[in-house]
Amino acid sequence: VLMSEPIRVLVTGAAGQIAYSLLFSIAKGDVFGKDQPIILLLLDITPMLPVLDGVVMELQDCALPLLREIVPTDKEEVAFKDLDAAILVGSMPRKEGMERKDLLKANVAIFKSQGAALEKYAKKTVKVLVVGNPANTNCLIAAKSAPSIPKENFSCLTRLDHNRARSQVAMRCGVPATHVRNVIIWGNHSSTQYPDVHHCLVQMSGSELACFDAVKDDAWLKGDFIATVQQRGAAVIKARKLSSAMSAAKAICDHMRDIWSGTPEGEFTSMGVYSTGNSYGVPDDLIYSFPVQIKDKSWKIVEGLAINDFSRSKMDATAAELLEERDTAVAFLGV
Ligand code: NAD
Ligand code: LMR
Repeated sequence: VLMSEPIRVLVTGAAGQIAYSLLFSIAKGDVFGKDQPIILLLLDITPMLPVLDGVVMELQDCALPLLREIVPTDKEEVAFKDLDAAILVGSMPRKEGMERKDLLKANVAIFKSQGAALEKYAKKTVKVLVVGNPANTNCLIAAKSAPSIPKENFSCLTRLDHNRARSQVAMRCGVPATHVRNVIIWGNHSSTQYPDVHHCLVQMSGSELACFDAVKDDAWLKGDFIATVQQRGAAVIKARKLSSAMSAAKAICDHMRDIWSGTPEGEFTSMGVYSTGNSYGVPDDLIYSFPVQIKDKSWKIVEGLAINDFSRSKMDATAAELLEERDTAVAFLGV
């Protein structure tokens, strides 16, 4: 078989929890394809380099055919060189009792510096996925710090929320998660996010039903369902004393795989992307989660979906929070 040239993929926070669940899936071809060789660049901070060495040993010991080279480093100029894809995880996770935006001042400077490193060292075609919280605002700052890379190349992870919403509906209906399509996460990866099922379809007893007809419990869909998805990250932290890692890694793989290979026909997914002010009345210059479809490595917002008053007010509330986070970040960094 004729193999393609290896691509250069960066994972930051490579000695951390999420990376530990993520690197094996990437290295064995679940994300970029079964015939795509990979050079893995692994960035973490200097005190974590001994731990990172252990991760490198384990990756070597997996004896994977696609993994051509592993480069552990604490240097941005090494990590960001000629990248095809960058998965920016490295940053501090929240503890019980915190909101994700409480991490802003601890984390946002990392994304300014790494945005500048993307600008300086990466390919202009690089696809950048921001995972570290507060993910939307960190992503916006990274994009602003890399002015010569198209804003469309940046996205932040709301796929975990999307998967959570899909699974909650599936469990309620007693069907596999794959029988639920087109849930939407609007807005911020925070407790103001709006998980929307007005356009969601469920395959049940031989036909495909609107979610409200499948679930037959509007009070749950408009109440506890939304709260459960909004608060799921906090519930995992409370239970595990650590933030989600296995499910976050799975969502990162889903998100990047869809960027690389496209979304299935008739399906949309959710991701935080740059708002130009032209879709669904969302203000411009925010990274806001929208329903998107992806083809040829570029995403398009799914336009023309009907939005009722219930949805409108929730979409506006999460936009307002993002404006506030943006202003705090910009003032803090002086960008
Ligand atoms: P972790 O503490 O286990 O690992 C983070 C790693 O990042 C550590 O090894 C740390 O040394 C490293 N790091 C810190 N600063 C760095 C820098 N400047 N450059 C490179 N590496 C650096 O945390 P985790 O559980 O892996 O979570 C990482 C981040 O992902 C947190 O901010 C968390 O809140 C976020 N997260 C986001 C989502 C999402 O859906 N968007 C889901 C889960 C977690
Ligand atoms: C999650 O959604 O699980 C992550 O963003 C971690 C967190 O802080 O909730």
